[in-house]
Amino acid sequence: MKAIYLLGATGSIGSQVLEIIADHPDEFKLMGISGYQNIDRIKAIIKDFQPTIVAVKDEGDASALKNDYPDVKIVYGPDGLVEVAKFEPENDEAVLINALVGMVGLKPTIAAIEIDRDVWLANKETLVVGGHLIKDLLSKHKADLRPIDSEHNAIWQLLHREDKRSIKKLIITASGGSFRDYSREALKTVTLEDALNHPNWSMGNKITIDSATMMNKGFEMIEAAYLFDLDIQNIEAVLHPESIVHGMVEYVDHSIAALLATPDMRMPISYAMFYPKRQTTSIQPLDISQLGALHFEAIDPKRYPLLGIALEAFKKGGSTRTVLNAANEAAVKLFLNQKISFLDIEDIVIDYVREHQPIADPSLEEIYHIDADVKQEIYQSYGL
Ligand SMILES: NC(=O)c1ccc[n+]([C@@H]2O[C@H](COP(=O)([O-])OP(=O)(O)OC[C@H]3O[C@@H](n4cnc5c(N)ncnc54)[C@H](OP(=O)(O)O)[C@@H]3O)[C@@H](O)[C@H]2O)c1
Repeated sequence: MKAIYLLGATGSIGSQVLEIIADHPDEFKLMGISGYQNIDRIKAIIKDFQPTIVAVKDEGDASALKNDYPDVKIVYGPDGLVEVAKFEPENDEAVLINALVGMVGLKPTIAAIEIDRDVWLANKETLVVGGHLIKDLLSKHKADLRPIDSEHNAIWQLLHREDKRSIKKLIITASGGSFRDYSREALKTVTLEDALNHPNWSMGNKITIDSATMMNKGFEMIEAAYLFDLDIQNIEAVLHPESIVHGMVEYVDHSIAALLATPDMRMPISYAMFYPKRQTTSIQPLDISQLGALHFEAIDPKRYPLLGIALEAFKKGGSTRTVLNAANEAAVKLFLNQKISFLDIEDIVIDYVREHQPIADPSLEEIYHIDADVKQEIYQSYGL
């Protein structure tokens, strides 16, 4: 029986994890959660699963919940997330599932690895910003990291039996996001509502916007470089509008293995949670004979400049990844609050990445300092 500490329980990934836990009470027990603004959902989760510890946004929400649930330990803020991640440190069967959005997920991931706790990771920003810290910690601790992100989960599935020297290249696929059929000209007038309407996946707002700008694929290439310890030159992203092939591995003999599945996050979540077993799921099966054509094409860098800027930031190195992520988080938040247009997201991120003078191998403190400075400056400039 695994004891699950689930950060981001109120979100899109978090809700799908909860479905699996509810369906398998003999395999998993939910011990701790975090939510942020969605207090009603937090209350419903407490009622259904009776966790021991719950983290919320701030002290006000925490004291209100303490009155309602005197037997539950209620914590709050970024420190509360860390407390949940490392709660019950002596329990070897405990796992952290990190389904937070944004770099707020970095410290709790580190806290779990430091007590040798396995982490099943959806929160890609952790690796974008702190990949070098996580890689170093994993080499010193007994903790394992399992990827939940669908492309990385697919590649992880494909790599189990392969020697690393047999790998030539990893290929991750991109749906193209909400605006894949739009010209650059048409992007000038798109609305928030249009942007949140993803053709293939139903996800949280931030990743839906990151998919439309293609920043998501830049993040995923960086994530793959850290997860699979490969040079970024050996990782490629291709457009694949059907989202049926999630990841591919090209071997040195030029054969390519691909993982196909209906686009449904319950597949990679379930694979990570039950590994090394496979579990039956209620996901729509793929009828190969009815699939018809699958399409793949190169991603046009002029159409999607943020993919190129993510790679530029990775090559520039060190704290540039922090700036890439911070500027993107801030710009996406401005767009979600309708303070800027869709194309302004690109301008803000490109300006910050190009202007930054990087610090090599930034410490956790330096990362948090730079992140806060960049976000504050951007919010101030746009009145948020
Ligand atoms: N959704 C997908 O299909 C998918 C696929 C692959 C990878 N991912 C990755 O998985 C992660 C989660 O994505 P998602 O789509 O599930 O996001 P989401 O639906 O927006 O959920 C985010 C979760 O984080 C909480 N949260 C937001 N801001 C917070 C903050 N400042 N401090 C603490 N908690 C905060 C939210 O709480 P409240 O809701 O209570 O405010 C919610 O529980 C992201 O890194 C994303 O890139 C998602």
